[in-house]
Amino acid sequence: MGDLTVRIAGVELRNPFILASGIWGESGVSLAGAWKAGAGAVVTKSIGSVPRPGYPNPTIETYERWGMLNAMGLPNPGIDEYPREIAAAREAGATVIGSVFGGDAQEFATLAERIAGTGVAAVELNLSCPHAEGYGTEVGGTPEAVAEIVRAVVARVSVPVIAKITPNSADPAALAVAAERAGARAVSAINTLRALAIDVTLRRPVLAHGLGGLSGAAIKPVGLACVWQIAARVSIPVIGIGGVRTAEDALEYLMAGASAVQLGTAVAFDGIEVFGRLSAGLSNLLDREGIPSAGAAVGLARGSAGASAR
Ligand SMILES: Cc1cc2nc3c(=O)[nH]c(=O)nc-3n(C[C@H](O)[C@H](O)[C@H](O)COP(=O)(O)O)c2cc1C
Repeated sequence: MGDLTVRIAGVELRNPFILASGIWGESGVSLAGAWKAGAGAVVTKSIGSVPRPGYPNPTIETYERWGMLNAMGLPNPGIDEYPREIAAAREAGATVIGSVFGGDAQEFATLAERIAGTGVAAVELNLSCPHAEGYGTEVGGTPEAVAEIVRAVVARVSVPVIAKITPNSADPAALAVAAERAGARAVSAINTLRALAIDVTLRRPVLAHGLGGLSGAAIKPVGLACVWQIAARVSIPVIGIGGVRTAEDALEYLMAGASAVQLGTAVAFDGIEVFGRLSAGLSNLLDREGIPSAGAAVGLARGSAGASAR
C-alpha cells in the first residue's frame, strides 16, 4: 500500500486530503466529523475580528456537473467565540489549521496571534476571497500587499503561516513568491474564481450579492495551472485547491507540484465520506502507477519534455 503521509511546513499529515476553509468547518463538531471521516487535516471557516452574518440569500447556486457559485460574504462567529470550536475539534484529535481574514496587515496579525493561541498546527491567511468588500482579494491582490500581511503575521506567531492566494490576478505565482519571501512556510492555491450567473426570467444576478466565486470541477484546470506555475518559482510546499473530487484529481495536483490538496465543493456534494474514499483511491492509484508514496508523486509531471512554467 502506498504511504500517504505528507509533511507541510513541518506538520505531518496522515494523508494529503485537507478540508478546505468555508465548507463544513463552521463548528468544532463539523471539523471533528471531517477528521473522523479521514481528513489529513481540517481548515476552519475563515474567522474575522467580529461576528458577520454574511450576505442575504441566495448565497449559493450549485451546478452538479461543474461546481458551485457562492457569495457567502464570510459569515463567521468572530474570534471571541471561535476558540471553543477549535478546542472541540482538537479534543477529537484533529490536526486543525486556523483560517483568518482581515482588512489590513495589523488586523491579520492580531487575528493570527489569537488563533495561533488556540493550539492550531498552522495558520492560513485568506488573502483571496473574491467577493467580500474590504477583504480577501481586495487586500491580498498584489505581491506588495501579500508581503506586508505575511510579514506582519510571521512576526507575531510561532506556528507555520500558510498564504492562500487568489487566482484572480495576472500573475498568481508572483503572489506566492512574495509570500515565501515574507516568511510563509507554505502557499495554498487557489481560492474561488470571480464569477457571475444571471437569472433571465428575474432579469437579475442569481446570487443576491451579484458577483460570486466559482469552485468545483470547472476550476480544476485553473488550479492546476496555478500550482504548476507557483511550484516552479517557490521552494516552500504548495497546497493544491480547486475541483478535487476523485483520487485522480488529487494525483494530478501532486504531479503538478502540490504536496497536499484541499477539498471544498467535493465535500458539499459528496459528504465527508469523500475523505475515506479518496485516501483508499489514492493508495490504489499509487500502487497501480508504481509510485511508492504520495510524497514520491509530488512534481512527477514536471520533468516531462517541453514542460514550461509560463
Ligand atoms: C461555500 C463556500 C465557502 C467558502 N468559504 C471560504 C472561506 O471562508 N475562506 C477561504 O479561504 N475560502 C473559502 N472558500 C473557498 C474554498 O476554500 C476553496 O478554495 C474553493 O472552493 C476551491 O476549492 P473546491 O473546488 O474544492 O471547492 C469557500 C468556498 C465555498 C464553495
